[in-house]
Amino acid sequence: DQNTFQAIISHCKEYGFVFQSSEIYDGLSAVYDYGQYGAELKKNIKDYWWKSMTQLHENIVGIDAAIFMHPTTWKASGHVDNFSDPMIDNKDSNKRYRVDHLIEGYADTLEAADKTALLDQMELLLKENDLPGLKTLIEEKKIKCGVSGTVNWTDVRQFNLMFSTQLGSVTDEASEIYLRPETAQGIFVNFLNVQKTGRMKVPFGIAQIGKAFRNEIVARQFIFRMREFEQMEMQFFIRPGTQKEWYEKWKEERMQWHLSLGVDPAKYHFKDHVKLAHYADAAVDIEFEFPFGFKEVEGIHSRTDFDLKQHQEHSRKKIQYFDTEINQNYVPYVIETSIGLDRMFLLTICNAYAEEDLSTPEKADSRVVLKLPAKLAPIKLAIFPLTKKDGLPEIARELMDSCKSAFYCFYEEKDAIGRRYRRQDAIGTPFCVTIDHQTKEDGTVTIRHRDSMEQERVPMSTIKQLVLDKIS
Ligand code: GAP
Repeated sequence: DQNTFQAIISHCKEYGFVFQSSEIYDGLSAVYDYGQYGAELKKNIKDYWWKSMTQLHENIVGIDAAIFMHPTTWKASGHVDNFSDPMIDNKDSNKRYRVDHLIEGYADTLEAADKTALLDQMELLLKENDLPGLKTLIEEKKIKCGVSGTVNWTDVRQFNLMFSTQLGSVTDEASEIYLRPETAQGIFVNFLNVQKTGRMKVPFGIAQIGKAFRNEIVARQFIFRMREFEQMEMQFFIRPGTQKEWYEKWKEERMQWHLSLGVDPAKYHFKDHVKLAHYADAAVDIEFEFPFGFKEVEGIHSRTDFDLKQHQEHSRKKIQYFDTEINQNYVPYVIETSIGLDRMFLLTICNAYAEEDLSTPEKADSRVVLKLPAKLAPIKLAIFPLTKKDGLPEIARELMDSCKSAFYCFYEEKDAIGRRYRRQDAIGTPFCVTIDHQTKEDGTVTIRHRDSMEQERVPMSTIKQLVLDKIS
């Protein structure tokens, strides 16, 4: 629910995961910065995706293309002409709305049958690009967006979502370039480079992680919809005619990837696209149950040979593959998997966040804990000497030195142990180790497990391997 979501947003700020961009200047809408723990968590998600895509697939390689691309790229890809959303403004409040969000939001207040009928009607109008029809629909249904009485709407207009800027010092139309709205095009334009230099054989994939930019009009729900965000995309090049089977295979494989992080399968489902993007012949979203409902986290798209063919035409370079098995030249088809890194971050935090009541008959108590998968946690091991004296810090430092090159450790000697545990719970540290006077006698330490809060006594010499086993 919204209260939980607000609590998660506050938690992200309070514990150094996510800050509003340029906060001292009152922030920049829909742009966010990752703090000290957020940056670690984000990097761990990135590494987990990268490794499972590239290292674990012999036929997928990764690249890192530039954000700026030749402007013709976006003409060819269809983004200049098609990457827009219909918007409408309320003339009185000067508020701008994305038409589909407006209608969807209103539909949520209706009975199921009416809701479906309304959304179907909207899909049809959107598909036909019938802007006056959309305005009539909004007016007929008396969609008000929180205001009473009649709303004074402008006409519906198309807004392109790409940001543009100038390359070089001369300001003319030819020097206008875009910030990429998706990373995929950097892969398509490098298809031949990678295929040839990597001696890749179809079917093969190219993966990439990088920033993308969209001038989203309705920016909301924290880092769910941002204007600057990161995508983790993979384009899988296949023989024409095999797209159905590869589409199914990647749907399955990507869902397994999500479930491998230990999320309850009931929190995920597939949702087929009703309205296909200009490049796709089939498309599905993997949706997760966020506190604000089931929403898209990843898309799997069968992009046909649309992009490669378009680049072939616009660049006048032959982009083909000679398939030695069937002795044929063709433009490969593409299955794409595209996941938002920031959305995956939000999913991970939402899924991990728990407020637990630990009250006993004697004492009221509670904690906030992030039950992150150990391999994603920002800090893997916190090391606490029980006191600041008696040589305990020195032993703790020894453990720190032996572990810190293998994984991220955190050292702290201030405050009561209970308090130190709670701070680590709040940032999701799976293990805390306490060094006490007994350690000096027999070399054992107390290891405390985050989720169960159970503690056990083990030899200090086993700690490193124990943590490594849990994070690999
Ligand atoms: N190359 C295909 C493509 O870009 P998309 O469905 O527009 O497809 C893919 O985007 C993923 O990128 C989404 O599933 C979402 O996770 C993420 N994404 C898209 N727009 C976003 C935004 N404004 N903020 C954060 N993530 C976004």
